Amino acid sequence: MEAKASAPGKVILFGEHAVVYGKPAIAVAVDKRAVIKISENKEDTIKVYIKNLNISATIDQLNNHIIIDNGNPGILKYVLESLKRVHDASPVTIEIDLDIPIGAGFGSSAAVTVATLAAASKYNHKNLTKKEIAQKAHEVELSVQNSASPLDTTISTFGGAVYLAANAEEIKKLELNWTYPLVIGFTPRKEDTGKLVEKVRLRKEAYPDIINPLLDAMGILTETALKFIIEKKYSYLGELMNINHGFLDCLGVNTKELSNMVYTARKTGALGAKITGAGGGGSIVALCPENNLKILSALKNIEDAIEVNISHEGLEFID
Ligand code: PMV
Repeated sequence: MEAKASAPGKVILFGEHAVVYGKPAIAVAVDKRAVIKISENKEDTIKVYIKNLNISATIDQLNNHIIIDNGNPGILKYVLESLKRVHDASPVTIEIDLDIPIGAGFGSSAAVTVATLAAASKYNHKNLTKKEIAQKAHEVELSVQNSASPLDTTISTFGGAVYLAANAEEIKKLELNWTYPLVIGFTPRKEDTGKLVEKVRLRKEAYPDIINPLLDAMGILTETALKFIIEKKYSYLGELMNINHGFLDCLGVNTKELSNMVYTARKTGALGAKITGAGGGGSIVALCPENNLKILSALKNIEDAIEVNISHEGLEFID
């Protein structure tokens, strides 16, 4: 018996951090995916392998414990929490194939969570709907990270472009028939998402009269971007991305390396560029209707970079 599923990573275009305070956000799924295969094994434990990251581990689901043979355990916490929700703890081998860089704001943890929940629920003959998987995936992120918006897990489940309305009251799939590549520049992240969310919270508590209106303005910015996307006025999005980058700087999640990449991308011809995800290292996204190869190579010269395209495929069960 074996079951297989895959789910995409994501890039947040507008609204990171503000989304934690109930503001809207817009994100797109990208053509970088996590593929999970679960198969029966003859051992008496759950084994996990992530070949391309050289990670191998044993999961003791009943005792809530991960024993690492090799590599960094971070992402395996999401695997364990996912199994606890849909798997009966029987011995299986879990093979993870990840072409999403981890810890760089690409939603690798959400993609691994969504694909693990899907593969494990199929393995256990539980017919969960995509909506149920997205809900459980959000619970997993909450239990591992303490705080998380449903943005990453929603986008990884449903694919395409997603607008998350204020207070996560509505999740709308957007028509974004846009074939521009996105260039992503990335650096290793020094702090994890939870710590960066906490850093913003402390700044908000220290200066509520300054930070609260800023978060309100970030919400208005995302609504403005939504209007331009609906009207297909994509060229207006660049300037909004630049303004959004400034707001994220005010929240304290920018770094010299990220700013350097943002300004390099703009100078090399990007329509707009900003931090994407939690910041503090991690990634920037540049909107590149033209000059994408030039921008890619300029960013590779200073840090690292890849080109991604929007993926309309969300979670997929693989036969
Ligand atoms: O960097 P990422 O992909 O983990 O994105 C975090 C986005 C935040 O808004 C900072 C947190 C969240 O849960 O939405």
